[in-house]
Amino acid sequence: MPRLAGKIALITGAGTGIGRAAAILFAREGARVAIAEINSASGEETAHLAGNGAIAIPTDVTDPDSFERAIRATIDKFGALHVLHNNAGGSTAADDTAVEAPLDEFWRAIKLDLYGTFLGCRFGIPAIIKSGGGSVINMSSNVALMGVAGRDCYTAAKGGIAAITRSLAVAYAPQVRVNAIAPSATMTDRVKALVAGNANLQKLADSHLLGLIEPGDIANCALYLASDESRMVTGQVLPVDSGVTIS
Ligand SMILES: NC(=O)c1ccc[n+]([C@@H]2O[C@H](COP(=O)([O-])OP(=O)(O)OC[C@H]3O[C@@H](n4cnc5c(N)ncnc54)[C@H](O)[C@@H]3O)[C@@H](O)[C@H]2O)c1
Repeated sequence: MPRLAGKIALITGAGTGIGRAAAILFAREGARVAIAEINSASGEETAHLAGNGAIAIPTDVTDPDSFERAIRATIDKFGALHVLHNNAGGSTAADDTAVEAPLDEFWRAIKLDLYGTFLGCRFGIPAIIKSGGGSVINMSSNVALMGVAGRDCYTAAKGGIAAITRSLAVAYAPQVRVNAIAPSATMTDRVKALVAGNANLQKLADSHLLGLIEPGDIANCALYLASDESRMVTGQVLPVDSGVTIS
């Protein structure tokens, strides 16, 4: 039996990268998937690739009305919501230490990663409870678990996500499990472009005990957290990091 049979999932930022890999995998495992993506064209493309009746809903996760509409549209279409994967986010090359980073970059990261996740939980958790319970999967990062210098805007946002993952898990157990994934560098097109031709790529690869991570590796963890196989797991920030946080 498919691992997500009968489940309805909404994945933010699933037009590309890790979110797209999760959308395709969730649909293959039997879920009905709503892709809440700011870029309509890439969202539609993911829906097409995922199949199993997946839909794309143009959504800005930083806008409360837009996020609430996306949850409502998912329920109107599929009748329920069991899995919310708050995936939209990401760092930029403008990030730096608190001393050097442009102030705009701080608010960009906080707004997209932390506030976007906060809004998803605000509107998604009541919908999941009404649907009989389910799973929230937030997206943190290895920077929330170890000292990585020079990315303080992103680190602050991802650390906040790890913290609200725990507090929400306590608040909404047992109906809703709330977990986060903490990937280290994952070879999405965005990250590949950032490190292309960069001499640090070899250094990056060398720091990963098991080699560089692919989007599908993170999607596999999201699948586990979405499925009932993780029914006794909540409030956790799971590293999928090729060993960087322990070496
Ligand atoms: N790739 C990595 O190395 C890595 C490492 C650790 C954590 N992460 C996290 O994983 C998540 C996915 O990363 P990725 O590398 O796949 O990113 P990506 O840039 O490939 O994809 C992000 C998607 O989010 C969409 N998006 C951006 N703003 C949005 C908004 N306001 N509303 C809705 N959608 C929006 C983009 O259009 C894009 O399709 C992010 O939260 C990122 O911080 C990534």
